[in-house]
Amino acid sequence: MAEVRRVGMLTGGGDAPGLNGVIRAVTTKCDNDYDFEVHGLKRGWKSLLDPEEDTVMPLTADSVRYILQEGGTILGSSRTNPYKNEGDAEKVVKQMEDFGIDALVAIGGDDTLGVAKRLYDDFGMQVIGCPKTIDNDLSATDTTFGYDTAVSIATDAIDRLRTTAKSHERVVVVEVMGRHAGWITWGAGLASAANVTLIPEVEPDLDQIADIFKKRAEKGEKWGLVAVSEGVTLSEEFMTQNAETDEFGHVRLGGIAETLAGEIEERTGIETRHVVLGHLQRGGTPTAFDRILSTRYGLRAAEAVKNGEWGKMVALRGNDIVTVDLSEATEETKTVPDNFYKVVETFFG
Ligand code: F6P
Repeated sequence: MAEVRRVGMLTGGGDAPGLNGVIRAVTTKCDNDYDFEVHGLKRGWKSLLDPEEDTVMPLTADSVRYILQEGGTILGSSRTNPYKNEGDAEKVVKQMEDFGIDALVAIGGDDTLGVAKRLYDDFGMQVIGCPKTIDNDLSATDTTFGYDTAVSIATDAIDRLRTTAKSHERVVVVEVMGRHAGWITWGAGLASAANVTLIPEVEPDLDQIADIFKKRAEKGEKWGLVAVSEGVTLSEEFMTQNAETDEFGHVRLGGIAETLAGEIEERTGIETRHVVLGHLQRGGTPTAFDRILSTRYGLRAAEAVKNGEWGKMVALRGNDIVTVDLSEATEETKTVPDNFYKVVETFFG
């Protein structure tokens, strides 16, 4: 193992509240306890593929002291994929050497961590992963930071929409983030007592949904709330904003709430509107839970660098922060199990 003096750190993919908590914890531990130099690398993998003048950002325990409460990431992000074009991965490795960085902490979701794993496998890069996603869909960890904040924001939004839906006797369909896994919608639908909660894991039955609102209207409740994941499909096809894909091949989802609102209105005769929560769910200050979890992840990631646990990722298992192989992190998408869905389904109506 090459001796570590200088540690690099990057954040990739969509931002998540809590990223700055990890950055602060890694930096503080490395600076104060291990005497490592820490350098932030701005804009995810782009920092090593296509660096700009401001790419390298020296970090110290003092400079990151108060970033815990800040949303977003002070290091910026990108969806750059160094495995998209041949020869780019080699450039990344060379750039890391040129920057004099001996070890890297890569904070991201399955795309960022997938790249970290390949760089470790192909070049023996001294890399430690830290899981991040508001979607909570990484299999190797019980939960990710950002999820609790996103659920809280979506819950608050649905609570607010209820009072106006009721006043105007409307159904409101609320579109919630989550590509292939409905965790945010499941959590927010449950916590806000939405009348119907729809996730990508379960095919929606439009007649059943319409019946729920017809029955409510018969009882004098001519209003209601539907929480729907952006990844819900009506005819097995995602609803997308356009045909473009990012460097990892993901389409930009959007449109299911509007379509569903039209279907509900047509079938029930009740005025039905839609609201897309979008990036509101990722913005702003993290909850206390996410501040604590991201801090614990960051401290364990620093320790993993010190121990030379290359190719590993920090993870929450029960109450403990452990390290697992990066391959585990990227193996499969953690979706909402049936028995979890039944919990929220109990309250439909
Ligand atoms: O992966 C997290 C996520 O927030 C998804 O829920 C959503 O589909 C996607 O990112 C949106 O990404 P972007 O901000 O790049 O459009």
